[in-house]
Amino acid sequence: MSHYTLGRFCQELEQFLPRCEGHQDAILKTVIQGMQKLLSNPDLLDPDFVGALKAGHTDGRVYTSPEQGFFVQVFAWPPGVETPVHDHNTWGVMGILENQLAVTEYQLLPTDTEGQFQLKELDRFNAGPGAIVYVSMPDAEIHHIRNPTETYSFSVHIYGAELENTHVFDLESGQVRSA
Ligand SMILES: [Fe+2]
Repeated sequence: MSHYTLGRFCQELEQFLPRCEGHQDAILKTVIQGMQKLLSNPDLLDPDFVGALKAGHTDGRVYTSPEQGFFVQVFAWPPGVETPVHDHNTWGVMGILENQLAVTEYQLLPTDTEGQFQLKELDRFNAGPGAIVYVSMPDAEIHHIRNPTETYSFSVHIYGAELENTHVFDLESGQVRSA
């Protein structure tokens, strides 16, 4: 159990990330260590903040780094809700705070046809409280996330940059489009 707050997490990353000098492995290691401490804080989220998240009154973003470009956002996942299959164009770390999320990870295979894609499923698993999942550039950044349960799930995410120039993959048509 810890009292490690989101504010402290962000503050420490402001100090530590410049020392990683853009090396993704070092960044992910540092971020994952911080995420582990966050997830062991049972009082991480203020109940009013949780209420606002569930009501859609906030997008959950708690911090944007002015210098380093990373941002931290808390997500509330209603029962059954899911993302499209998507990429991120940056590194990212997700920690499960409450309940469960079903994650499917993919690898992009080369194709000759523009706008078409082929994905290989790499892994499929349910992530519960305390689990940490990450995406990294360039080969491990495509996934699909769903709340497979009947109640809300909560997760905290950190991404290396704003999610720009990202893509959505339609598994049925095999077509890829800008998100
Ligand atoms: Fe994602």
